[in-house]
Amino acid sequence: MSIRRLHKDQPVDFAFTTANKEWAEGQIAKYPEGRQASAVIPLLWRAQEQEGWLSRPAIETVGEMLDMAFIRVLEVATFYFMFQLQPVGAVAHVQVCGTTSCMICGAEDLISVCKDEIAPVAHQISADGQFSWEEVECLGACSNAPMVQIGKDFYEDLTEESFREILAAFARGEIPTPGPQNGRFAAEPVTGLSTLTEMVSDKHGQNASAERATVYGDTIKRIQGDEVPVLKPITRKTKA
Ligand code: FES
Repeated sequence: MSIRRLHKDQPVDFAFTTANKEWAEGQIAKYPEGRQASAVIPLLWRAQEQEGWLSRPAIETVGEMLDMAFIRVLEVATFYFMFQLQPVGAVAHVQVCGTTSCMICGAEDLISVCKDEIAPVAHQISADGQFSWEEVECLGACSNAPMVQIGKDFYEDLTEESFREILAAFARGEIPTPGPQNGRFAAEPVTGLSTLTEMVSDKHGQNASAERATVYGDTIKRIQGDEVPVLKPITRKTKA
């Protein structure tokens, strides 16, 4: 486990966009009075979606919004590896799973591609400022190993070639379709379904998560964090 610290270069300030501030206030309103700290992870995540990474001013802003000591927010931000404590590539930050299933199925090839195409060292931003990468622990898609996460999406069943093509597509400003990249619908056997064959409908070309991502239309834009609809605060009836 590596030591996770605030980055040495910090921006002067941080402010949520109007839409994100409204969204954040909606999240805070979900919790009972005095329990606003429960919204710390959603707010940190939204700050990261907006900026690409979590700066000290962003952590402090979240602390102020939730009436939390900054050190408590910092503890959360440094504990979870999903929070980036250093700047990332402007287009995409690639998280390569390096745990057992992915390692056996070719994660090291994907890491070689990252070193080749992005930067020789994890968390180093590419020369054009567009990409960065890191190795992460199991992302829960072991049956579709090897895989990477970019933004909120999984790209699965990768080969060195298909991964290079995905990075090239992002670099061209295109949005590669997430999900299995070898023609699999989901996590069925590579030779095709042998049971429950009637469960796959012809009208769906992709599985639910890949289709959802396609309906949203992109991956990169979602990293900006300004596209998720604002949810209404939950209002609870008070007991008489
Ligand atoms: S080992 Fe890679 S997703 Fe689980």
